[in-house]
Amino acid sequence: MAIIAPLNQEIGEIKKEKKYASTARFWHWINFIVMAGSLLTVLINSLLFDRTQRTFVKVELMNAGATVNDKQAAAVTHGLEDQVWGIHIYFGYALAALFLFRLIAEFFLPAGQKLLHKLKKAYRAYFILKKEREMAKHELVVKGLYLIFYLLLLTMVVTGLLLAFEDYTNIPENLNHSIKEFHGFCMYLILGFIVLHLAGVFLAERQGGKGIVSDMINGGDDK
Ligand code: HEM
Ligand code: HEM
Repeated sequence: MAIIAPLNQEIGEIKKEKKYASTARFWHWINFIVMAGSLLTVLINSLLFDRTQRTFVKVELMNAGATVNDKQAAAVTHGLEDQVWGIHIYFGYALAALFLFRLIAEFFLPAGQKLLHKLKKAYRAYFILKKEREMAKHELVVKGLYLIFYLLLLTMVVTGLLLAFEDYTNIPENLNHSIKEFHGFCMYLILGFIVLHLAGVFLAERQGGKGIVSDMINGGDDK
């Protein structure tokens, strides 16, 4: 008995639930890296391969002894832009896979860590039980923002895949154009989320939630 008791205690400790499950942490940081890569491709294309760079290409080629006209210079920048979009599409496939991973993970996460559970709990506390309303309101806003982000990510994945497979979807050209514009517009909403999220995390670190970033890395203590 004397040996079994500490053993049980040890197993109990091993089984203690972390604040953030490893699947959630894995998703979070890989998603961060892939999304940063995807945004970088957009930045490269908008900074390096826009129309103004045609003159740069023309001048550089002229300095190297070749004579090129505007159309030929445009073909070069367009080709380079397409190559970067190729990389964007690979990041896109990774984001689609990560979205699916996060969706499946939601079913397997410990009950208290499921996003929908946290949202329902905050909703109940704020609107029905009306207890600790300030905290419940904060929780509702934060988790509500995460839900909006996931819906935005789903929109990016669906519109992105439609664009990537436009040769096979039989979607009319003008509709594809609108899908691309919508896809591009949603990027600004994603950027908005990232700014709010980072500001929220920094504020939390300075106030009541000290250590949440390291919790998101090492899992944190059980709740
Ligand atoms: C957060 C994630 C994403 C961001 C911020 C993003 C952003 C953008 C932006 C700004 C454009 C240019 C739109 C325009 O020209 O008006 C674009 C194009 C595109 N994106 Fe995404 N995207 C993301 C995810 C995805 C995903 C998941 C896919 C799926 C494979 C994807 C596939 C594409 C394709 C195929 C294009 C068109 C490229 C071309 O013009 O050849 N994107 N994206
Ligand atoms: C592309 C950038 C990022 C995106 C899209 C993103 C997205 C998310 C999402 C969706 C969640 C909620 C996870 C869930 O419960 O389902 C989350 C949580 C979290 N993220 Fe990020 N994140 C980004 C960058 C960062 C960075 C750079 C940090 C650290 C400086 C960070 C720190 C955290 C922390 C601490 C949490 C847990 C907060 C909580 O419990 O409410 N994130 N992030």
